[in-house]
Amino acid sequence: MSNEQGPEAEHTHHGHAHTGHHHGHHHAHAHGDSFAGENAKHYDASAQEYDARPDVQELARRVAAAIQKLHPSLLDEDSTAVMDYACGTGALSRELAPHVKSVLGVDISQGMVDLYNTRVSNQGIPPEEMRAVCVELKGTGDELDGAKFDVITCSMAYHHFSSIEDTTRLLASFLKPGGSLLVIDIIKGEQEVTPESFKHIVAHRSGFAESEIREVFEGSGLADFSFTPATHAKTHGHDVAIFIARGRKPLQDAA
Ligand SMILES: C[S@@+](CC[C@H](N)C(=O)[O-])C[C@H]1O[C@@H](n2cnc3c(N)ncnc32)[C@H](O)[C@@H]1O
Repeated sequence: MSNEQGPEAEHTHHGHAHTGHHHGHHHAHAHGDSFAGENAKHYDASAQEYDARPDVQELARRVAAAIQKLHPSLLDEDSTAVMDYACGTGALSRELAPHVKSVLGVDISQGMVDLYNTRVSNQGIPPEEMRAVCVELKGTGDELDGAKFDVITCSMAYHHFSSIEDTTRLLASFLKPGGSLLVIDIIKGEQEVTPESFKHIVAHRSGFAESEIREVFEGSGLADFSFTPATHAKTHGHDVAIFIARGRKPLQDAA
């Protein structure tokens, strides 16, 4: 990646970059994820800036290409319903959209969701094919009108969550039997980017070991686990490796 700014370079508080959209209304209630309020505020303020970053788009392109190469049978343009969780302004959604039937973006930042939907409507894509909603999913069973998905992606967001166990269980509950969860994030390196380096910014972890992701996937009942180093990115001046982890919800829950 030739760009100076990494996928996390948005983590500076500018405060002036408000989108003018109705961000903030969702802060009125308690967030189930203890980092969620902080994340929503941060991404509301930096949505436009985030959306304009070529490195974000470039990483999404590489990740989408890697998904197609690693898991060629997962995406079918006539049948695959995708949820892109923590979708941001839709960098990955847009790369996947031509290869699947529909993409629903989900994010807790209204600013990010507004930009996602503006781009979709500017491109003349019907909302049934692609749209985003601003909601904090809790796993109550009746959310998103009871929709279930063939594939759920979550890219560059696991490091923002306060409990990846809870998030993984939540996402597994939105998969159809046989459906796949794909998590894309930073591989915990030897040259550790410590949580200390992120203290000045939004809640953040430095990355994940394969064993950690495997444990939470298996703990959520997902099978056929794989963890593949897929590409590289720059984050706060550190070159980091990016993994794609995949787990599949069994066709029948084991008795
Ligand atoms: C670094 S951005 C990644 C966006 C996008 N997936 C991409 O790859 O460009 C992280 C996103 O996670 C969202 N987020 C953080 N916590 C969340 C939560 N609990 N539920 C849903 N989205 C969340 C933020 O609002 C932000 O849009």
